[in-house]
Amino acid sequence: MSEPSPKPKSPGNAPQAAARALELASLAATGRLARRLAPHLRAGDVIGLQGPLGIGKTAFARALIRALLGPAGAGEEVPSPTFTLVQTYAVPTEAGETPLYHFDLYRLARSEDAYELGIEEAFADGISLVEWPERLGSLLPRDRLELELSTGAKPTARHARLVGRGAWAKRLEGLVP
Ligand SMILES: Nc1ncnc2c1ncn2[C@@H]1O[C@H](COP(=O)(O)OP(=O)(O)OP(=O)(O)O)[C@@H](O)[C@H]1O
Ligand SMILES: [Mg+2]
Repeated sequence: MSEPSPKPKSPGNAPQAAARALELASLAATGRLARRLAPHLRAGDVIGLQGPLGIGKTAFARALIRALLGPAGAGEEVPSPTFTLVQTYAVPTEAGETPLYHFDLYRLARSEDAYELGIEEAFADGISLVEWPERLGSLLPRDRLELELSTGAKPTARHARLVGRGAWAKRLEGLVP
């Protein structure tokens, strides 16, 4: 009888996901969370923004984009990509600049249509903020941070759940101990 084949090795003890829950008492608190996250972002990062219509995904993205743009971002309009599906920005960095993509995929008919919006370049070289990421199905990268917003205790409050998947599990643990 031959020896049973060894079990496939798991890639270290790295967790596959980490989750954190936060209460955002107001729009200002949502902005503070965005500004806290901004300095940790780099090219290749994908952040999925989830939750129902009108919950605050764009509000969060707007604060994050303005923070990433630095002083130049203070006066930036940051429109919702409701109809354009994607808005792009250039984030100044020490090495030059990193492209920033703000997607709103609510109106995406088929996940493959996202290729025409440039998701491959975005996920490879840019910082990507994706509203309605579930529209991407299997095109969504495994390594990602998810922010899921839901209604809070009062009309201006939101419940936030952050989930770090893949490489983002450890990063989220460092970010929100
Ligand atoms: N704590 C909060 N965080 C975020 N938005 C809030 C909060 N309190 C109130 N709001 C309001 O909720 C609305 C959120 O609208 P927003 O366009 O950001 O939603 P959305 O999730 O992007 O919707 P859609 O799915 O249509 O893109 C804004 O009018 C914002 O001022
Ligand atoms: Mg929106």
